[in-house]
Amino acid sequence: MDKSTGSKRFDNAVKQYLKEACVLWELDGAGGAPRLIAVAHDSPMIVMSLCQGQTLRRVLIENHQLGFEDYIRIYKEVSDSLLAVHKRGWIHNDFKNGNVLIELKRGKVSASIIDFGLASRPGANPKFPTGTSEDYMLYQWYAPELYLYGVSLEQSDSWSLGVAMKRTFTKLQERQPDVGALPDDLDKLLADMTDPRCCAANHGCPVRRPHTAPCSPLAGQVASQT
Ligand SMILES: Nc1ncnc2c1ncn2[C@@H]1O[C@H](COP(=O)(O)OP(=O)(O)OP(=O)(O)O)[C@@H](O)[C@H]1O
Ligand SMILES: [Mg+2]
Repeated sequence: MDKSTGSKRFDNAVKQYLKEACVLWELDGAGGAPRLIAVAHDSPMIVMSLCQGQTLRRVLIENHQLGFEDYIRIYKEVSDSLLAVHKRGWIHNDFKNGNVLIELKRGKVSASIIDFGLASRPGANPKFPTGTSEDYMLYQWYAPELYLYGVSLEQSDSWSLGVAMKRTFTKLQERQPDVGALPDDLDKLLADMTDPRCCAANHGCPVRRPHTAPCSPLAGQVASQT
């Protein structure tokens, strides 16, 4: 790598870290997000507070005691945390089970959203490389409008949350056959949350996906299951 490419990459890394630092600063702990403690200017490094718990990805792999209703409660907390992030004016864009820490303590669940490196403002272009859905096959949790139209909205996190929930419930159904089929309203909600249709005439906005799915309607519907 020549010197100018190396220094460009370094500059980009610094910009990326500084952006994440700004998001954490503005969130100020909303959605359980880590708090910004320090930023190093001469090397791309940010120091943030330690959030408690394990990633939901790890919980799903390691904790075989949790059942369907536990995960409904967990996702209610997760959706409330995403709502808190949205209320502070940020869209996460990279939500997945590996980017949320879950703490289970004395029957209580708390969810901390982490990894804000790809976050952007609602309506802004999150600058994902443009590509087809096939190019993004591996990254199914990225909402299609991010890479097809360069627009990020609350519905984009709704997509990612829907994908994460579908994966979790499918895993549970494989592991615990007595879970059976999902309740119809939850099944329908997940289908709506992961509706891929976007409207070219409307700046790539999702057509049917609920606007605040990670937020109030999901929290309400999920709460009614418990
Ligand atoms: N503030 C935090 N408190 C506690 N653990 C954290 C925190 N930030 C990150 N981690 C841990 O470090 C791991 C990697 O962090 P993060 O997701 O931000 O990095 P990443 O490089 O984007 O990883 P990936 O590509 O897997 O998403 C997380 O899965 C989590 O286990
Ligand atoms: Mg991550």
